[in-house]
Amino acid sequence: MTTLLPMRAETYESYHESSILSYAEDNVQSGRWREEDALEQSRNEFHTLLPQGTDTPDQYLFEIIGKDNLTAVGFIWFGIVIEDGVRIAFVYDLEIKADHRRQGYAKRAFKAIETLVNDLGLTRIGLHVFNQNTAAQTLYKHLGYEVTSINMLKKL
Ligand SMILES: CC(C)(COP(=O)(O)OP(=O)(O)OC[C@H]1O[C@@H](n2cnc3c(N)ncnc32)[C@H](O)[C@@H]1OP(=O)(O)O)[C@@H](O)C(=O)NCCC(=O)NCCS
Repeated sequence: MTTLLPMRAETYESYHESSILSYAEDNVQSGRWREEDALEQSRNEFHTLLPQGTDTPDQYLFEIIGKDNLTAVGFIWFGIVIEDGVRIAFVYDLEIKADHRRQGYAKRAFKAIETLVNDLGLTRIGLHVFNQNTAAQTLYKHLGYEVTSINMLKKL
């Protein structure tokens, strides 16, 4: 059993800082961003998407609670975006803490999110995954997600 708990303010503080850092690192590693600007770019994107933190309208941030019903084993965040004139859910972030991986938490968190998204009257969930993140790609394929486009880059 996996429970999603709306993210608490005290959790958000540390979540926010570590996510800014890891999103910056992922973008540098993928070749999208330059190292010198990455942290600022990441901070700006987070601020644009979450100007009021967990109280930002249309943004849903959760702690994923483990089998003991106490411990937060990870986080999942989705928001509502407009794509081709249609409101869809978009998963911005997912992380399961290293010592809780491969126990089905991400899979169950996604199933829980599907119910919430359905209750919001939405019929699609989109997400982005970096090319280097083969673990997440395998997870999303396993969950039935299909590739809709591929970004390409050549460094000169
Ligand atoms: C990717 C991540 C969220 C997966 O979480 P998890 O709780 O370990 O995933 P689950 O246990 O629910 O895995 C479900 C299925 O996904 C696939 N999968 C998950 N992790 C995998 C890995 N490291 N390698 C290959 N397949 C993997 C498998 O098919 C797995 O089913 P199985 O265990 O029966 O083989 C986790 O590794 C993580 O937090 N990584 C760092 C952050 C990250 O990459 N987030 C995603 C951003 S897009």
